[in-house]
Amino acid sequence: MSRKFYLTTPIYYVNARPHIGHAYTTITCDAIARRQRMLGADTFFLTGTDEHGVHVERAAVAAGKPPQQWADEVSSAFRKLWDRLGLTYDDYIRTTSDRHKKGVQALWRKIRDNGYIYKGSYTGQYCIYDELYVDAVGPGAPCPECGRPTETVHEENYFFKLSAFQDKLLRLYTEQPDFIRPDTRRNEVMSFVRSGLRDLSVSRSTFKWGVPVPDDPGHVVYVWLDALSNYITALGYGSGDTSQYEKYWPADLHMIGKEIVRFHCVYWPAFLMAAGLALPKAIVAHGWLLFEENKMSKSRGNIVRAETIVEAMGSDALRYFLLREVVFGQDGSFSFDALVQRYNADLANGLGNLASRTLTMISRYFRGEVPYPSQTAARKALDNEIAEGARKTIADFSALFDQYQFSRALESAWSLVGAVNKYIVETEPWTLGEQQDEMSRSRLGTILYTSAEALRIVTALAHPVIPDSTARIWAQLGLGELKQFRLSDLNWGQLKLGTKLGTIEPVFPRADKSTIASMQKMEEQQREGPAAPEQKPSAPAVETAAAPPPNAAGPSLDGRISIDDFAKVEMRVGQVKVAEKVKGADKLLRLEVDIGSEVRQVVAGIAESYAPETLVGRKVVIVANLAPRKLRGLESNGMIVAASAEGGKPVLCSFLEDVPVGTRLK
Ligand code: ME8
Ligand code: MG
Repeated sequence: MSRKFYLTTPIYYVNARPHIGHAYTTITCDAIARRQRMLGADTFFLTGTDEHGVHVERAAVAAGKPPQQWADEVSSAFRKLWDRLGLTYDDYIRTTSDRHKKGVQALWRKIRDNGYIYKGSYTGQYCIYDELYVDAVGPGAPCPECGRPTETVHEENYFFKLSAFQDKLLRLYTEQPDFIRPDTRRNEVMSFVRSGLRDLSVSRSTFKWGVPVPDDPGHVVYVWLDALSNYITALGYGSGDTSQYEKYWPADLHMIGKEIVRFHCVYWPAFLMAAGLALPKAIVAHGWLLFEENKMSKSRGNIVRAETIVEAMGSDALRYFLLREVVFGQDGSFSFDALVQRYNADLANGLGNLASRTLTMISRYFRGEVPYPSQTAARKALDNEIAEGARKTIADFSALFDQYQFSRALESAWSLVGAVNKYIVETEPWTLGEQQDEMSRSRLGTILYTSAEALRIVTALAHPVIPDSTARIWAQLGLGELKQFRLSDLNWGQLKLGTKLGTIEPVFPRADKSTIASMQKMEEQQREGPAAPEQKPSAPAVETAAAPPPNAAGPSLDGRISIDDFAKVEMRVGQVKVAEKVKGADKLLRLEVDIGSEVRQVVAGIAESYAPETLVGRKVVIVANLAPRKLRGLESNGMIVAASAEGGKPVLCSFLEDVPVGTRLK
């Protein structure tokens, strides 16, 4: 039976559309999966989407859509992108699917029945972006992980006895030093675990968008327990048919970004230990893709879409750039300039040039049939150097790639490309091609055989990284289907004499300034356009409290106001101290908001979007000089500023940075 290889990406949140940060992880895994298949491993490559939790629910509310519909749309946008990029995932798991929910509940029962889940209560600061209770003190305190304001949450919850696993986890990291890679991440995790583990709240009762807790449907399973389970539910864990689970689990590789190391390296193995299941063999964390120095992320709004690059340059250009330019494990920068530069240098001028020169000359001087390398005096040290270099490249590339050092692996393959291009320049086969004597013919045959054989080797090695273009070069070499080629057999000298070349055509057209300009334009158009995938035109307008009043102060003819008009509106940062439902009014909440100089009572029509307990401690923006008015007998002294999202749902205005209470907006 052949060796198996099971690898996974994180499952992506459906709170925003995919960008090249997500593509980075998924493409990297695709390259690994392709190489494993070419090595003969029975490979299973899993990706999917993470669709539960408060912030997904809020994203749906903001888009004015039921959460399931929203999740369906965004999940399919991710899947469509992966298909467009030609990624070869074997399964696509969604956490709102039945198979997944059943599996999560089965895992919960197993952990509970083993005595690691109990009921308790907890009050603390919760970061909804990281879906994590954090060590932060006081209402609205910034999250130590991401800096965004936390919310005070009090919950009667189920807890997981994480504290029982401290020693077992430390033993795991010590006994299996390759469990977490790279070492920097391993060290971080070890010091986190050494500093002590508290039990983990693993259910939520303040919202419903999740997997119901078995035997207590008032609670939903904590999103991270829900999400991490995907790695086994996709294999049929808990479904009755466990054949795939038995075949592929434990995973050989969980690939993740560095910000979710703790969930994968601490919580996940602890959950598995508690359930008595086998542990994954390796968790590998890569760095962040930065754009203009910042992490590319949906909340920062500095994303670049993979679609743009694919449209302008093809998916191999993106794949090559990401794996060659980013030193795996470290943060890397993306820019259109760097992408085009790398493409032109390595693909158009490097591999592309090598392929077109070599193949064109074989076709011109040898009627398109691979010639003989001479075994005699015409063979020179130069030829042997190329052969030696190629043998070394096969060994180096393989070792580096399999240690996830993609940029160094590609560097070694491209040093061979560079050496062969140099060899061609030095030996001038085009001059020999004009001679008819036996010696020149034999010399020419040797040079072109050597070049073609080196080209074949680089093409095979690079196939997992740039599958489309290498498949085309392979076909031009007359070698059939590259996918079927066994990399473990790759060796110098396998190119058969007399192999008939296929049709020769250029593979990497040069890119230039206009390519950059067209990509920038596509991105600008996207930024100005809809913020979410496949957003339909807004539903008929619904009047909301946040709608601006008609301007009575005599605006200019084009409807604009002067800065003085704007200055009349006094907007300040406030912090919610008290939040409660208003009896008999489904939409209203009564809030007490601290605006620095005083605490105001405000009645706001936001009850359908926000549970009162999630607001306490949260910073909001309030229009402080609005004339008071009465709602349901309560005086409202100010207005909370909210976006009126599709369907009229309010989304509260907030800040990424922490802003002191009382600060004026202008
Ligand atoms: O964390 N650079 O989902 P998520 C590099 N649902 N990689 C990036 C990136 C960037 N700028 N932005 C995103 C979640 N990624 C959870 C995971 S797993 C059981 C649940 C990639 O949508 C990277 O792999 O926030 C990162 O870990 C992942 O997307 C986070 O995606
Ligand atoms: Mg994230």
